[in-house]
Amino acid sequence: MSVAGMLREIAAVGADPTRGGFSRAGYSGADRELREWFTGHATARGLDLERDRNGTLWAWWNPGGSTQRAVITGSHLDSVPGGGGYDGPLGVASALAAVDLLRNRAVVPEHPIGIAVFPEEEGSRFGVACLGSRLMTGAITPERALALTDRDGDAFADVARRDGLDPAHLGPDPERLSRISSFVELHVEQGRGLIDLGEPVAIASSILGHGRWRVTVDGQGNHAGTTLMDDRRDPMVAAARMIVEIRDLARATPDARATIGRLEPVPGGTNVIASQVRFWIDIRHPDDLVTAALIAETRDRVLAAAVAEGCRSEVREESLSPTVDFDLGLRETLRGTLADAPELGTGAGHDAGVLATAVPTAMLFVRNPTGISHSPEELVEDADAELGAVALADVLQGLAAPPQTRRSTEHMMAR
Ligand code: GLV
Ligand code: MN
Ligand code: MN
Repeated sequence: MSVAGMLREIAAVGADPTRGGFSRAGYSGADRELREWFTGHATARGLDLERDRNGTLWAWWNPGGSTQRAVITGSHLDSVPGGGGYDGPLGVASALAAVDLLRNRAVVPEHPIGIAVFPEEEGSRFGVACLGSRLMTGAITPERALALTDRDGDAFADVARRDGLDPAHLGPDPERLSRISSFVELHVEQGRGLIDLGEPVAIASSILGHGRWRVTVDGQGNHAGTTLMDDRRDPMVAAARMIVEIRDLARATPDARATIGRLEPVPGGTNVIASQVRFWIDIRHPDDLVTAALIAETRDRVLAAAVAEGCRSEVREESLSPTVDFDLGLRETLRGTLADAPELGTGAGHDAGVLATAVPTAMLFVRNPTGISHSPEELVEDADAELGAVALADVLQGLAAPPQTRRSTEHMMAR
């Protein structure tokens, strides 16, 4: 089945009639349905399925019974609220298609090939991006993860337990990591790089360092009609000042990006001055020292804006990931396999960026003709999706069934 055909099967799952696009939060009903879809495809292909202690699904193809370290591909199935249909699922469907292609080529891999589906990559539900891969590599402690709560106040510990995970067993998995020789994630490109280059597929060079901070602004909740303008301590007005300050700071810092995409007034009534406003800042920069300086300056400006409006504020870090330069040796290998593919950096975060701290890791990007992502307008043309799957199959073949193995197999078969 084609990549586009597989993605069409899930076109109704988590479709969001209000926001448009898809809302497939981690551990939601939509997420579960997508995992069942993946499980169905893996089972139909005779792949061996397992779910690890941190909720990552693994589908194994090891026709030769190899005991070597595994070559892993895969991605995620959860989405941002109102997201596109390719961010995550493209990498999962392409992984399944790549295994089909390798089988059609009669490749018998020398290394097991695994397809991983990481949970809660977007962090849309519990606030920390790449929660599954962070737990696996130890980038977040299980204690901190278990205490995370979603918008409804449900703790990750309870949600994970209801989803069949044992909270006592979450956490670093060095044994599993030691059985991986490399990880290659295919992903929709989330900017205009490949449009500008006129190419369908790129090899990733780097991921921008990025972090998320939660700001709480406390004021005085009161009546919209009876409270004179000079008598107010309105956290919404303080937040508005802060948001403009953060935008101005990022604009004045070359290569910086700062976004406030989520804001929650409490209690959130039209005729009510809020008592509290919470909002989330996403800051990204290629230089980790600049990111640190940006967040220090942001804290100062947030505090000053709160004081100016008679409010109090707190800034708390939710996650921080340094800039990642992907493994040079693996990039070189991929360049040897995909001679025409350019190299591109990205501003988007990925499980591959987290895994890169533990195993040689690389990524492939597939052209997005709108250049828009985290939006219903994200797109991949069917033909590009197939080219991506072929590129991934070529890469997996090069890593798991290097030519000398194929030659000796062919030689043995000829005899
Ligand atoms: C995930 O896609 C991110 O970059 O936040
Ligand atoms: Mn993604
Ligand atoms: Mn994303």
